[in-house]
Amino acid sequence: MKNKLQKLRDDFLRQLSTVDTSERLRDLELKYLSRKGELSEIMHELKNLSGELKRDIGGLANAVKTELQDKFTEARRLLDKRSGGERMTDVSLPGEKIINGHLNPITLVQNELEDLFTSLGFMVLDGPELESDYYNFTALNLSPDHPARDMQDTFYIDYKNKSGQYDLLMRTQTSPVQIRAMRKYGAPLKAIIPGRCFRNESTDARHEHTFYQVEGILVDKNINFANLKSFLEIVGQKLFGPDTKLRMRPKFFPFVEPGNNGEYSCFLCGGKGCRVCKNTGWLEIVGAGLIHPDVLRAGGIDPEVYSGLAFGFGLNRLAMLKYSINDVRLFNSGDLKFLEQF
Ligand code: DAH
Repeated sequence: MKNKLQKLRDDFLRQLSTVDTSERLRDLELKYLSRKGELSEIMHELKNLSGELKRDIGGLANAVKTELQDKFTEARRLLDKRSGGERMTDVSLPGEKIINGHLNPITLVQNELEDLFTSLGFMVLDGPELESDYYNFTALNLSPDHPARDMQDTFYIDYKNKSGQYDLLMRTQTSPVQIRAMRKYGAPLKAIIPGRCFRNESTDARHEHTFYQVEGILVDKNINFANLKSFLEIVGQKLFGPDTKLRMRPKFFPFVEPGNNGEYSCFLCGGKGCRVCKNTGWLEIVGAGLIHPDVLRAGGIDPEVYSGLAFGFGLNRLAMLKYSINDVRLFNSGDLKFLEQF
């Protein structure tokens, strides 16, 4: 046992004298000095010795342990000093600055709308980007041969359903989630649905194949056009400031009746006319209307009992207005020079 201790001591010291990196130092510590190291093993074996021998060798083992630990500590101190001090020497030095990431301007505008509508008691829902023809068109009053489908050509999926029809497409609007929400939650219902949409577009500064909308739906008893008007007024004033005026102009959307475009007085020139509003004083911001009875029915809601309003914002357009962005293709470009500005 004595010999064993002696050998361990010599081996350790020999190896310690050649150690030149903190990794190797750590290895040595593990091998010899750690709880499962060779020295502990010997200490453990002491238990089996008897009387005087135990005292004798125990004393020696303790002396070796102290010596090796002292030598080890000293070696570590020298190594740290040599490597310029891996250890922190001045705790008052400033820390390393962490660079913040950037939110895409679409996300910023989406967050703003979510804050606004949740404060008005709306839920925020999600829906699938890969949609069925039925939800995206038919259930929204766009029958298979409806001419309004032409304006929303999209990417069709090469997959036939059980009846042998091509039924899957990338949704052209967030409106299909109106139907999904009505079927899931019934009435009364207040929800917005932000999300990504797709269309088969030749892209240019104003057209993009992938873009974002926020859909809104409110269903309850006795919802009428006056409710829609005051509602859109509140939304405009929250988005663009308390002096914002609303004008509603008729526009056809198959899933509402009557349908209209909500336009707000230009937040930049206050309605006088400028470059942003193309000298009209007004900005087209939101498509809206009272939900068509057929659409309520498709959502499983009785139009004799309930009525509702629906609206849809284009997020790209809102972000372009708000941040003076002149090319819609920048949003999906991943261009850091663009993204780092926000
Ligand atoms: N889905 C329409 C579009 O993509 C926008 C829209 C208009 C949504 C009127 C609505 C609405 O809910 O009532 O152009």
